[in-house]
Amino acid sequence: MSDGQPTHDEDFEEVLQYLKESRGFDFTGYKRTSLIRRVRHRMSQIGVDDYGDYIDQLQVNADEFSVLFNTILINVTAFFRDAEAWEYLREEVIPTLLAERGPDDPIRVWSAGCASGEEAYSLAIALAEAMGPERFRQQVKIYATDVDDEALTHARHASYVERDLQSLPPELAAKYFEQQNGRYSFRKDLRRSVIFGRNDLVQDAPISRIDLLVCRNTLMYFNQETQSKILGRFHFALMPKGVLFLGKAEMLLSHSRIFDPIDLKRRIFRKAASGMGTPAHFVSHAMVHDRRVDLRGIDELREHAFSASPVAQIVVTADDVVALINRQVENTFGLSAKDIGRPLRDVDISYRPVELRGYIEQARLERKSLRIKDVEWLRGPGEAMWFEVHVNPLVGLDNTILGVSVVFHDVTAARRLLEDLEHANRQLESAYEELQSTNEELETTNEELQSTVEELETTNEELQSTNEELETMNEELQSTNDELQTINEALRERTTELDRVNEFLESILTSLRAGVIVLDVQMRVLAWNRGAEELWGMRRDEAEGEHLLNLDIGLPVADLRPVVRSALSDGMFLEEVKLSAVNRRGREVLIRVVCSSLRANGGEPDGAILVMEQQED
Ligand SMILES: C[S@@+](CC[C@H](N)C(=O)[O-])C[C@H]1O[C@@H](n2cnc3c(N)ncnc32)[C@H](O)[C@@H]1O
Repeated sequence: MSDGQPTHDEDFEEVLQYLKESRGFDFTGYKRTSLIRRVRHRMSQIGVDDYGDYIDQLQVNADEFSVLFNTILINVTAFFRDAEAWEYLREEVIPTLLAERGPDDPIRVWSAGCASGEEAYSLAIALAEAMGPERFRQQVKIYATDVDDEALTHARHASYVERDLQSLPPELAAKYFEQQNGRYSFRKDLRRSVIFGRNDLVQDAPISRIDLLVCRNTLMYFNQETQSKILGRFHFALMPKGVLFLGKAEMLLSHSRIFDPIDLKRRIFRKAASGMGTPAHFVSHAMVHDRRVDLRGIDELREHAFSASPVAQIVVTADDVVALINRQVENTFGLSAKDIGRPLRDVDISYRPVELRGYIEQARLERKSLRIKDVEWLRGPGEAMWFEVHVNPLVGLDNTILGVSVVFHDVTAARRLLEDLEHANRQLESAYEELQSTNEELETTNEELQSTVEELETTNEELQSTNEELETMNEELQSTNDELQTINEALRERTTELDRVNEFLESILTSLRAGVIVLDVQMRVLAWNRGAEELWGMRRDEAEGEHLLNLDIGLPVADLRPVVRSALSDGMFLEEVKLSAVNRRGREVLIRVVCSSLRANGGEPDGAILVMEQQED
């Protein structure tokens, strides 16, 4: 294999081919030794020994690819990993880089293979320390890319546990991270300058106009051929004098002339003044054999350099004949060697993806470079690419126009990143709006709650005062009750007394041998003693309450009416009458009746008393 490993196993290559065709992920450029070790490790975990069987597993089990993907891609990383190299970057490289740029120039940084983001945030810290947060926010953009979506999600959250921050000096940890619920979040105001996106270093176009490109501990997974290809793209991505910072174990560039070492030990390089002179790193052997013209020496080198450039380019002569096309133009726009020598107008690229002829004419006439932005090219169904096209007049030493070069810079990745960013921004905005409306709802609820609490408080007050009133009433009732009890007590005593008096009177009445009748002012019987019962044979309960004149007894009661009347009208009345009557035994008897008035204390008669005695013959 091209990474120098003797390992070549057709069956294993089939696994890689299967992954490329079914999942669009190309592992063929990875070093075989570690790749095979990792795939076998995964196979042994699920008890598969044969590559063919493993392809079957990948086909039937939809989740297997992502597990394998995680097994192959190693996401190990840390803040300021290899402290000494970072120290040098902070102390020497960044200050020089900033000094070379104008005070307001944008500073564009790319962390390629950023894993869970520690490297990108380390860059943010290093730059913010050098420039101050204000300038950092205004000028710096850090593009951080990886092929592993899970790692990118982690990186986007910018949230780490204490252990992750161990490699960070404590004062930087305190300054750049906010602690919340046991996690540490990178400062939000600086986080906005770090833009994460998916970029496959093997297949996707690079991000351009980069001042500082950091690709550490990632290149080492690729074989030499793929590394060369990626380095060619990095060369294109960097601005003139741009800096490339590789990992400690990445040795490749020791013999390169497209990058000059700033510090070889720490793997820090600067883009060489003329990259075009040394294309050896990205010209594949196949391409060398493909060349149509057998040029020698410098011309051959120049042609290879032109052809191998990762940027699509076409050159037309002063009279609009296609003079040069490179491999990238062939691959992207479908041109071929046959198109060289044809008038531009007969070649599709003259009007697709953009009408070029007008611009070429203008560049030639005005001798000025032109830039056409946002040019879209549909490479295949659903496969949109975006370009920034530069049209440059080529002027000879004698100031004559030699031709025009048209360069197609692939900005698809940057545009996608931008779209991702806009999308993320929109999501953020809508999340913010939702948050705001939730907040408003909460405020309303809060107000309602407050007013309910106030109402409850008022009700409580009212209840309290009602309670107080009730308590007062209760006290009053209690004292009334006490009074009533006293009255009751007095009444009871009185009743007992009355009962005694009554009994006394009763006993008097009963003890009298004579019959005694007591009448009220209406002449109704109030008392009827035993003597009266025995005399007239009528029981007390039969007599009491009856009108005197209605008593059916042997006494001619009607004869008593005048005396009773007199007794009822005269308080001093006392008179005796004798009447013939029939007693209870039916004997005719003579009855002596003494009628007297019943006087109350005031003197007015309350009734009359009749005392009756049978006269002996
Ligand atoms: C060991 S980590 C290096 C992280 C960081 N640069 C550092 O040095 O701490 C390697 C990273 O390279 C990423 N990677 C592997 N193949 C890649 C590819 N084809 N394109 C982009 N990134 C890739 C992996 O997903 C992983 O996150």
